[in-house]
Amino acid sequence: MRKISINTSHPYDVLIQRGGLAKCGEYISEVTGSRRAAIITDDVVEKLHLQTALDSMKAAGFECSVFVFPNGEQSKCLETLGRIYDFLCESNITRSDIIVALGGGVVGDITGFAAATYLRGVEFIQIPTTLLSQVDSSVGGKTAIDIAGGKNLVGSFKQPALVICDSDILKTLKPETLAEGMGECIKYGMIRDEKLFELMESHCLENVDGIMDEMVYKCVDIKRQVVENDEFDKGERMILNFGHTIGHALEGWHNYKDYAHGAGVAAGMCIITDRLAPQLSERLKKCCEAYKLPTGTDIPMSELLPFCSKDKKNEAKNINYIICNEIGRGEIVKVPFDEFCRLMEG
Ligand code: GLY
Repeated sequence: MRKISINTSHPYDVLIQRGGLAKCGEYISEVTGSRRAAIITDDVVEKLHLQTALDSMKAAGFECSVFVFPNGEQSKCLETLGRIYDFLCESNITRSDIIVALGGGVVGDITGFAAATYLRGVEFIQIPTTLLSQVDSSVGGKTAIDIAGGKNLVGSFKQPALVICDSDILKTLKPETLAEGMGECIKYGMIRDEKLFELMESHCLENVDGIMDEMVYKCVDIKRQVVENDEFDKGERMILNFGHTIGHALEGWHNYKDYAHGAGVAAGMCIITDRLAPQLSERLKKCCEAYKLPTGTDIPMSELLPFCSKDKKNEAKNINYIICNEIGRGEIVKVPFDEFCRLMEG
């Protein structure tokens, strides 16, 4: 087993282990004195992995109640959150019990927010079941729901008590869902680690399982460094947004439907690199293509730029964008929004 200790205001470990789900009860019992747990998952993960988690929790002496909601971003809303609060209340979950998020980013984000707010805070565990949630959303304590005004607009920082990443789980993912996670992994290589990038560019979607544990470890370790330096997202953490400025715009243009976040990140990285660091363009695009990720878009920039101005990371009139002039060296650049438009349209 590989372990990464995250030294934030509330320290915790990320465990990376094949078969870790079947041992989750044992691991969770080491971080809580309670033997009562509320497991929150979605109806896709329920069919694939809930029983394994329940068997392990039961073997470790936990009494579990389970809440299942429909899979998909549309569930990350106030209505589901209200139902989760009611479920926690009906299950008599107290502040000393534990909440387990078993699923991808949607499950982790909404469960984390419920855990941050129910009874003013209950400890929670992340068991991420997608590559994207293993390398990104389950680590670092960002929790949120979506409202009519936009994605992730209501949330809080709440670090989990433990994260369990089981790469065997990823074998059940559809290729396009696995590819989506690769968008974030390629981002980590681009912003911080050329060796990680080389590892990924020498593999492809069909054989990535062979490097999965190494890759997840390196990505989580980069996230650890960034989050430890800037837990509350005031500066350095923005580096994780490489590819996201245009990526979010692509998602927004598609109404957050039928356009995956990781695909947006890949296209966003390629588009900004094409314009501002063309010397790296070919290598980055080749790597994205190896994981069947988009490397651009047909949507005119003039239609995407209005979505960039709505990004949460922007200050009035200015925009922070990320650029890599060398692989492994991301930089945050702050410019007036008009100048960003000129750069991207040029
Ligand atoms: N997903 C980006 C962050 O955690 O800051």
